[in-house]
Amino acid sequence: MIHIPHTEAEAALAAGHDYRAQGDLAGAERAFLLATTRFPNNAETHGALGDLRIAQGRFTGAVTALTRANALDPGRPHRLAALAEALSGAGEPAEAAAMCRNWLLIRPDSVPALLALAEALQLLEDAAGAVAALREAVMLAPENAESATRLCHLLTTLGQPLEALELAQPALRHSPDHPPLHLALGLAWRALGEREKALQAFRHCLALDPTDAAGASGALFAPINPHETAAPDPGYVRALFDRYAVKFDTDLVGKLGYCGPQLLRAALGPTPGDRDILDLGCGTGLAGAEFAPLARHLAGCDLAPRMVDQARLRGIYHQLSVEDLTVCLNRAPLRWDLILAADVLNYLGDLEPMMRAVAAALRHNGRLLATVESAPDLEGFEFMASRRVRHGAAHIDLCAKAAGLTLTHQSTATLRTEKRQPVACLVLVIEKKG
Ligand SMILES: C[S@@+](CC[C@H](N)C(=O)[O-])C[C@H]1O[C@@H](n2cnc3c(N)ncnc32)[C@H](O)[C@@H]1O
Repeated sequence: MIHIPHTEAEAALAAGHDYRAQGDLAGAERAFLLATTRFPNNAETHGALGDLRIAQGRFTGAVTALTRANALDPGRPHRLAALAEALSGAGEPAEAAAMCRNWLLIRPDSVPALLALAEALQLLEDAAGAVAALREAVMLAPENAESATRLCHLLTTLGQPLEALELAQPALRHSPDHPPLHLALGLAWRALGEREKALQAFRHCLALDPTDAAGASGALFAPINPHETAAPDPGYVRALFDRYAVKFDTDLVGKLGYCGPQLLRAALGPTPGDRDILDLGCGTGLAGAEFAPLARHLAGCDLAPRMVDQARLRGIYHQLSVEDLTVCLNRAPLRWDLILAADVLNYLGDLEPMMRAVAAALRHNGRLLATVESAPDLEGFEFMASRRVRHGAAHIDLCAKAAGLTLTHQSTATLRTEKRQPVACLVLVIEKKG
């Protein structure tokens, strides 16, 4: 439909929009300035000038023009969103966030307000607030591909690619042809080390938009770390276990017959109580529960906060922390009689740094009790397609010796099942001889 301007102001604006559409920003600026001078009480003219200033990167000027437009004709979502963008661009994200919050008081279901708020909060480094605003936007309008795309990117950046995927897949059902969503999906797959799936998503993005406005070609040619050459990153481990925290015990023990804690307890043999015990990668506290009767003080640490929440519910730990196990070990030298590592070292690659930290944290005559996934004849360590790591006895012996520790017991056992097949492990006792 052809739109015929019927007021002078509309005609002046139409001229400016024509210049802008042709890429002539200077011409558009002249036309919009003329329009604001001739029609100073017309909100559209100030709004158009404000939008143009944003495109020119002249954010302070954009704030002035859009503030005037909003004063003349308050409450228009697209202009409030533009003003928030201008404020953020002008280095005033706190102002932008405050404005969005006021706007949400009046219109709590405004998706543009939530998107603008998320933008401002990201600039303020309030990632949790930005995630919450974007989640709300996705919930209010699941068909809005922009909200889902931005949330997917943010979650991946925050080290939560599994959550990003969970979100992107239903969003794609609503908007299968939105190229940036495919790019966001690809980046999440890539963060998980899923090279082929990532490449497929990047190619799909390019096929939908050969001009590549989303920038998929950069991602397509960026190097991808295949999972075969690296231990999983902490963000992946955290996301993986947080998701399973609530059903972990039922699934692992109930369905897969996991018995790591019992294997460690049997390997220790008869021992007096009153031990100070640290449970590395404590998860929901299954190993803690097995060793609690021996403990004077029982502490646990884990990367995944929701696993730690489950462990806390048991009421057996004196101390729990959400942190990497090496950080936890390094905090307290000569502190522990027993250190437990049940089914956790298979998320680490080379065990030497961990073994040195264990050596420093153990008291003399203290012991590390650990399971590792293993395979006959494996000497070093290897990364598996499951993204876990298998360690050979020779590697463990070498690391223990390098740290001044002694491997005093090793036996093979079945840790649990996976796809109905037994998962082979080594049960280890490593001592700090006094
Ligand atoms: C398979 S679960 C075992 C949990 C518990 N040890 C048990 O026997 O039930 C592995 C746990 O190790 C944690 N984990 C993995 N890598 C870790 C690291 N570097 N530091 C701390 N925790 C880690 C995971 O978050 C997860 O809760």
